[in-house]
Amino acid sequence: MAPTGWFIAFEGVDGSGKSTQIDLLSMKLRDQGIDHVLEREPSDGSIGRFIRHYAEAGDRYLSPESEALLFTADRFEHSKRISQMLDQGTTVICDRYYHSTLAYQGAAGVDVGWLRDLQKFALKPDLALLLDVDPEKSLMRVSGRTLTVFENRSYLMRVRDIYLGFAKAGEMRLVDTARPVDEVEAEVQRLVEGLMGLKL
Ligand code: TYD
Repeated sequence: MAPTGWFIAFEGVDGSGKSTQIDLLSMKLRDQGIDHVLEREPSDGSIGRFIRHYAEAGDRYLSPESEALLFTADRFEHSKRISQMLDQGTTVICDRYYHSTLAYQGAAGVDVGWLRDLQKFALKPDLALLLDVDPEKSLMRVSGRTLTVFENRSYLMRVRDIYLGFAKAGEMRLVDTARPVDEVEAEVQRLVEGLMGLKL
């Protein structure tokens, strides 16, 4: 076990299967007695709650720059809590982190260089996994519920392209989720084992 916990971020367009894979990984870690917590962004803090409310309201009335600042302010507060947990030796698995702001607000037209500068304070995940799927398929998976303001096909195609650029540059590890869940699970497990240097 590392002296501090590991920081693992899961990223991907809506409906990419993040939650399922996070739950499966969490069960594996629990079986191995690895102390960990599941976090998400927008966080459960006050700014995160505001953002969720905004995302569900149906009208994208804020400029993407303001959205970026809100997501980043939420992350600033959240990162302090994440650091404390890592320092205590707890592994943190976060459903979305700063790559979401780069990809989603970048896809809404915000300068990605400016977005990167805003994230300078943020912790760098030890492993950033990109769960990749064609938005056409992923939107079918989430179509059973009302879509948020961030969920429409052409927008998510641009989000995906930005994410794929990060994977190409080696910043994220690409995991193709257009496959049976157990195959995706095995690949996620392999990448986490590589990070932790142990067999799960
Ligand atoms: P959420 O309901 O948590 O979606 P999911 O379960 O798919 O993660 O809502 C988060 C939405 O906010 C999601 O559509 C992505 C978007 N988002 C951004 O646009 N920028 C960000 O920085 C973050 C963290 C999320």
